[in-house]
Amino acid sequence: MSSHKPIKVALLGCGTVGTEVVRLLTDQAADLTARVGAPVELAGIAVRKPNKHRDVPAELLTADAEALIASDVDVVVEVIGGIEPARSLLLAALRSGKSVVTANKALLAEHSADLFEASDASGADLYFEAAVAGAIPLLRPLRESLAGDRITRVMGIVNGTTNFILSGMDSTGASYGETLEEATRLGYAEADPTADVDGFDAASKAAILASLAFHSRVTAADVHREGIASVSAADIAAAKALGRTVKLLAICERVTEDGGESISVRVHPAMIPKSHPLAGVNGAFNAVFVEADAAGEMMFYGQGAGGAPTASAVLGDLVAVARNRVHRGRGPRESAYAALPVRPMGQTPTRYHISLDVADRAGVLSQVAAVFAEHDVSIAAVRQEGRVDDASLVIVTHAATDAALRSTVDKIGGLPVVREVVSVMRVEGEEL
Ligand code: HSE
Repeated sequence: MSSHKPIKVALLGCGTVGTEVVRLLTDQAADLTARVGAPVELAGIAVRKPNKHRDVPAELLTADAEALIASDVDVVVEVIGGIEPARSLLLAALRSGKSVVTANKALLAEHSADLFEASDASGADLYFEAAVAGAIPLLRPLRESLAGDRITRVMGIVNGTTNFILSGMDSTGASYGETLEEATRLGYAEADPTADVDGFDAASKAAILASLAFHSRVTAADVHREGIASVSAADIAAAKALGRTVKLLAICERVTEDGGESISVRVHPAMIPKSHPLAGVNGAFNAVFVEADAAGEMMFYGQGAGGAPTASAVLGDLVAVARNRVHRGRGPRESAYAALPVRPMGQTPTRYHISLDVADRAGVLSQVAAVFAEHDVSIAAVRQEGRVDDASLVIVTHAATDAALRSTVDKIGGLPVVREVVSVMRVEGEEL
């Protein structure tokens, strides 16, 4: 048995994730002791209403989070979520030298600079694996395993709710509204699904991923964000017709231009080829595809949400910070030395797929093509199918700035020969 004094843990929050953290700490106490080199002891659980929690030992519950943090605990685990009171509580913990493990993506995406500063001042650890993609080990690979490489792109499905909806639309052909209703009925979407379907949740995760991948400070406000509410059954059908599928992607990309470097950080729906590894990620699963100079391509896949999967990531962090306490080590600090600027979306190179209903007569294609040329957008592929009195025209572009592509689409929509712009969607995951 270990002779080191116990590592005392304060748990802030006891919802779905917190309850699982308590269960794992209890069920695996002996193994955790052996792995850490000291017993890991739950000293208290701070919740708003202690009498509402029947699944955890009553004697551990308290409504006074400040007092619990100020007691002789070594580590504070936060699974409350949201900015306040989590921010103030974790700053107080770090300032007084208590290591912090948090699953709070919104907090990290907005206030990581303050948290890292407090962690540096006292030498306490700050770990947050559970903040992005639940159980999937992803932040530690970016922060540690790939610290000797040069990451060029991180592209992922980091929101299970929207992936469940888009997968459903793809398999049934149903509309966004119908599929969201079904997802809500089955409990995959929250009663208020805004944070998920409008891309806020994915944008927070993208900010965290970009900060770690590119050693730069990126906040949620830097992330270009589009949700899935405007993805139509026609978009999904257009993707299918070309052997592609639509996913909500969080993309963090290094852009090199004229010898200078910047980063593009964005969340938006995009078509990817069915052959891309992310295309096979369906339902509520998450996956993140990482490209690095020396390592090449990697994919991290698994459960991105839920009590037990998220608690698994929290426990992994807890073991790491507890080991650091026992062996007097220190986890990685903030690494923002590269300070790469974030590129505005308009200047970001992207590719578009555009599907149009046009009049079927001489000169139509040349009028449409002229608009692309005018905006310096190069066409990669065109497919036309004649119908009875009109034609379907599908155009896939080469990379151009997002602003040029948007202006092209706006102008094409106004051409008298264009009856309807059926679908406009960015294309990712393939080189042309
Ligand atoms: N609401 C998120 C999702 C899980 O749907 O994936 C928590 O980040």
